[in-house]
Amino acid sequence: MRTDIGQVFKLEDYRPSDYFIPETKLTFRLSPEKTMVVALLTLERRDGVDVSAPLVLAGDGPMRLVRVEVDGKALSPEDYEATPDSLTLAKLPAARRFTLLMETQLAPSQNETLMGLYRSSGVYCTQCEAEGFRRIVYFLDRPDILSVYTVRIEALKSEAPLLLSNGNPVESGKLEGGRHYAVWHDPFPKPSYLFALVAGDLGRITDSFTTMSGKKVDLGIYVEHGKEKLAHYAMDALKRSMKWDEETFGCEYDLDVFNIVAVSDFNMGAMENKGLNIFNDKYVLADRETATDADFANIEAIIAHEYFHNWTGNRITCRDWFQLCLKEGLTVFRDHEFSADQRSRPVKRIAEVRTLRAHQFPEDQGPLAHPVRPRRYREINNFYTATVYEKGSEVVRMIRTILGAETFRQGMDLYFLRHDGEAATIEDFIRVFEDVSGRDLSQFALWYHQAGTPNVTVGSSHNPATQEFTLEIEQSVPPTPSESRKRLMHIPLAFGLVGRNGKDLVYSNAEGASVENGVIHIRKRRHTVRFSGITERPAISLNRGFSAPLTLAVEQSADDKFFLAGNDSDEFSRWQAFNTLLTDALIDAFRQILGGKKPIFVARLTSLAGKIAGDETLEPAYRALALMLPSEADIARDIGKNIDPDAIFAGREALAVAIAKENQAVFTHLYETLQDRGEFSPNAKDAGRRALRNMLLDYLCLLPGGAKLTLRHFHDATNMTDRAAALTMLAHRHHGSPEAIEALGAFETRYASDPLVMDKWFQIQASVPGPQTVESVRALTSHPAFSMTNPNRLRSLVGTFSAANQTGFHRPDGEGYRLFVETVLDVEKRNPQMASRLATALRSWRSLEPVRQAKAREALLAMANTENLSADLRDIIERTLA
Ligand code: PHE
Ligand code: ZN
Repeated sequence: MRTDIGQVFKLEDYRPSDYFIPETKLTFRLSPEKTMVVALLTLERRDGVDVSAPLVLAGDGPMRLVRVEVDGKALSPEDYEATPDSLTLAKLPAARRFTLLMETQLAPSQNETLMGLYRSSGVYCTQCEAEGFRRIVYFLDRPDILSVYTVRIEALKSEAPLLLSNGNPVESGKLEGGRHYAVWHDPFPKPSYLFALVAGDLGRITDSFTTMSGKKVDLGIYVEHGKEKLAHYAMDALKRSMKWDEETFGCEYDLDVFNIVAVSDFNMGAMENKGLNIFNDKYVLADRETATDADFANIEAIIAHEYFHNWTGNRITCRDWFQLCLKEGLTVFRDHEFSADQRSRPVKRIAEVRTLRAHQFPEDQGPLAHPVRPRRYREINNFYTATVYEKGSEVVRMIRTILGAETFRQGMDLYFLRHDGEAATIEDFIRVFEDVSGRDLSQFALWYHQAGTPNVTVGSSHNPATQEFTLEIEQSVPPTPSESRKRLMHIPLAFGLVGRNGKDLVYSNAEGASVENGVIHIRKRRHTVRFSGITERPAISLNRGFSAPLTLAVEQSADDKFFLAGNDSDEFSRWQAFNTLLTDALIDAFRQILGGKKPIFVARLTSLAGKIAGDETLEPAYRALALMLPSEADIARDIGKNIDPDAIFAGREALAVAIAKENQAVFTHLYETLQDRGEFSPNAKDAGRRALRNMLLDYLCLLPGGAKLTLRHFHDATNMTDRAAALTMLAHRHHGSPEAIEALGAFETRYASDPLVMDKWFQIQASVPGPQTVESVRALTSHPAFSMTNPNRLRSLVGTFSAANQTGFHRPDGEGYRLFVETVLDVEKRNPQMASRLATALRSWRSLEPVRQAKAREALLAMANTENLSADLRDIIERTLA
């Protein structure tokens, strides 16, 4: 484990390497306790670099260096300096090109970090992003060193009949002693973080895809034996992704094979290694019996995401890790667009915005805030964040909004043409769009460089005499760590002036800001925008489609909000209007409860929920999202400070009950008519119907007889979506009832031997609201299906408890934090990356009320005062406390 030495990496310190590695030849002799790796590198000194320049290769972890040769001659230990984290060669041949051979010894079975070469359920696999390759062999382990790899793998055939690496298969054969080998060659120069190897005994499904230029690609998905039938949905998603990328971006696949391997121990979602994607098995395996509709949608999105990286990430990679959003933000944007095309665009957009607000906004508004392109880091692993991924995607979306779809596509074409085969920067990316559009995007680029969620406030007035409608718009960006003064942003604010008939009013002229194609371009602190030819006072619909990731405060009457919630032609904004009404009511309820009163809700609001539920002009999936109350965390974020999670919870439950009572008849009727008929399909339409039906049950379960009704839903379920939804309602809203106990028991018995399904069981119990959940989570850590070393299990139980259980985790006596600290420190010893991800759950601690805040601080200090913390965890804890 690398402990913290306080080193800070800075963007401005970037220098090209003195040496390049045009070719890398690797031989792996695999064995659980003693794997030998021989790396033969062709090195090249950069033009103009002096022969005396030392070669410094990065290393990490417990690897043992057993041999070093330069140009075929063995070096003695005096000729180089090897430490755990570097190998320095000071005396090198004068020739510009020479070879370096290194042999290292590894123990993959002992590797619990899940980085470098490790074993997952007996399968050898690798994870090299961001800096894992250096755990295999010393290397120039930085993304701007592009090398052509040839990889030879040798292993016992009985232990590892399957031998995979990047690129195309070249050769394979038998060796002595029951061993065999395979050679792989990847003709595309790539950075070391995209290297991968898999060896083991796995089942597979195969298929093929013919690219737009007529090339046949062999596709393979490898899974645990017996799970093959669970991989077909992923295969289908892969083929649809390949097709979509050709049609939408003109991107064609470039190797003869494309393989995906599912492993059960994986820190992240999946990894885009060239031609050999490695996946967390939960994002591959699915069928109706074990996966929810949300699981299917995630699989589709992540399969697409990793595949799309082949062009945005692999063919064009990042110059350095500060540019991480160049591949991640852009690839998220691409997978969002893919899902929007495969499913329902407005529904997808609402879901994206909910995710952004739930994960990125708190990051941007708390101590861990950083720009989409950070300028410094201590540990790059801590920058695989919602800001880099999700906000990074929003920035790309804004470029498209500003340029229009056609010019945006021209910019992407130019990006692929100009930078293919390179390690590029955000500046390169912005420049292609400036070049195709002739626009100056320098102010816009602040979205990459400046952290924090901008606030926009808007007031309006209408003058019937002059037929003028005026908007007073003001922007501000709140201070974030180490950025106290902010510059003004270029904000593309999509809008509509909605008339009484629900149609957008047409204005004759707009002045005070540039207004084009339904977008106001805010560039100054204040704009007074005057629209002329406006005969009636419109309701203003702002930030349509969530055109910019900001918080918006519009001075608007309740009448206008209700009107927009029923009439806005922009479906996102219509959803937003209703959601804002719900949020307003929930914040008010919170205040009432703190003041010792019982919250009351106006019938106008609760009955609107019933109208939306029954509105046949809206897709069921959309209606389900509209009826979903803002989460406790959403409400807390909007309140901002002095948070008492118990009062928020009580207010939210009260509103849910009020909506249920008001609409019992409509909801019951709809619930009955929406029942599943015919064959199961995970398609968006059927999933939407299930989502609405389960959302209605979520209300009905609160009424008398609700537990019985929900238990019947549980037992009648013919798919995991319905079964898990019913179980959640029983466990959360009828905690401790005979019905809840029966359902939890039945689920456990049925799925005891399926770890991915048991994750749902853990997750549901970890999120039961209330103080008693700390104890039940603690007890569940001893459940036979639980494991402290498996990231999926940990995330389901402790991750869910700490990140998604407001009342349980933030128990005022600090017991939730105590369990959390114990777990984080325990996990840290094996898997620092996992521990530091878990630890971010306390990032919003300063918005809690004083008693909880003091307990949270104690917990953070307890971690900070622990000796020998990993660089990963120390970085998170110290920034959180700063
Ligand atoms: N690059 C991966 C993705 O987003 C994420 C990842 C990062 C996986 C680091 C493993 C390690 O597609
Ligand atoms: Zn990615």
